[in-house]
Amino acid sequence: MNNLLYASYAHGARYRRYVQAHGAPLLILDARKVEAQYRALKKALPATDLYYAIKSLPHPAILEMLAGLGAGFDLASSGEIALVRERQVSPRRTLHSHPIKRDRDIRDALRFGCTTFVVDNTDELLKFLPYKHRVGLLLRISFRSRAAVVDLSKKFGCAVSEVPGMLTLAARLGIHIKGLCFHVGSQCLDTKQQVDAIHTCNTLIRQHRDTGAAPISMLDIGGGFPIAYDGKPLDIDRYCAPIRRALVELPPHVSVVAEPGRFISGPAMTCVATVIGKAWRDGHYWYYLDDGVYGSFSGQLFDHMRYPLELFSDDERRFPSVLAGPTCDSIDVIAEDIPLPELHLGDVVVGHMMGAYTAASATRFNSLENARVIVVNAHPGEADASGEVPMKAGSSDAAGGASRFVH
Ligand SMILES: Cc1ncc(COP(=O)(O)O)c(C=O)c1O
Repeated sequence: MNNLLYASYAHGARYRRYVQAHGAPLLILDARKVEAQYRALKKALPATDLYYAIKSLPHPAILEMLAGLGAGFDLASSGEIALVRERQVSPRRTLHSHPIKRDRDIRDALRFGCTTFVVDNTDELLKFLPYKHRVGLLLRISFRSRAAVVDLSKKFGCAVSEVPGMLTLAARLGIHIKGLCFHVGSQCLDTKQQVDAIHTCNTLIRQHRDTGAAPISMLDIGGGFPIAYDGKPLDIDRYCAPIRRALVELPPHVSVVAEPGRFISGPAMTCVATVIGKAWRDGHYWYYLDDGVYGSFSGQLFDHMRYPLELFSDDERRFPSVLAGPTCDSIDVIAEDIPLPELHLGDVVVGHMMGAYTAASATRFNSLENARVIVVNAHPGEADASGEVPMKAGSSDAAGGASRFVH
């Protein structure tokens, strides 16, 4: 169920101004929020290097902001390599985290200069035989978490019991495994699994050191850092405290990195859709919006998230309502049976926390345009997302339109 926020009609004025200036649907990307989220996580995990998971929102404005802040980048495809290359990011600040790669993916990354890759099985390890003098690998381990909304340890990661065998095989092949990594799942609501995973990796690292083999010198704790879709305050410093305590127990030569995606990009984008159709069916108002689950709300299907929705009306009455997307498909429904004030054609419906896994997975089904992305606060002193319409702000459609921020 989406968290519903009701505000007065007047409160919607700033969004209506955006729509007047730029049309609809829109995604307002506030670069200052990207900076705030990055700094908050960095403060909560001061000894951990952060590699932004580009897949969550590959918009140039976010990459430029993070590159300026000194972040690293977690790459998972040749397309993502092209994005960081265009921004002159040093390959030393990147790692390639996709556990399954084609030979040409490996060659693309090496040509760029990225030399850290992830493997989780023997066949993948063997792919690095031709490049063994140029790479350092991370061995991904599966740790499944019930507290994560998106399980990323079912599809990827070897079992803990397989780790010693993989390390021995790699050593025999002359391939350097420099670290261990895991991802306990995205939007992981408690830290128990991260902490257990760190403890287990700590044991594996120490056992490996005792064999006299080349020491494991890196631990990549993945992503999963959650954001507050339900409106309940989420203190990232408090959330990370048990992770910090577990990390200090690692041998001092082990460097720690993380690959946050959602935490950095999620709060930074706000969706502004408008009502383009309205019908009364089976005791419900149906409102048809110009954005839906084939577009910016795609994360409701692929990412299993429900975004906080804000409506603006002075009418105190509530009617059973449905918010539907613009395509001809019946699955294209954002929220069903929700109590809404009566809306009218042209009214705005705002989706908050819509930066992560939204525009990134939006389709062009029905040949509909993706939401246009308006970037605000990309530079100090620019009007913010809650202030005046930034008529000169960089804008691009999510797939890359003509603008300062062309994909
Ligand atoms: C390998 C890897 N790293 C990092 C991330 C980012 O995770 P999150 O957005 O939960 O921080 C993902 C998400 O799919 C991933 O697959």
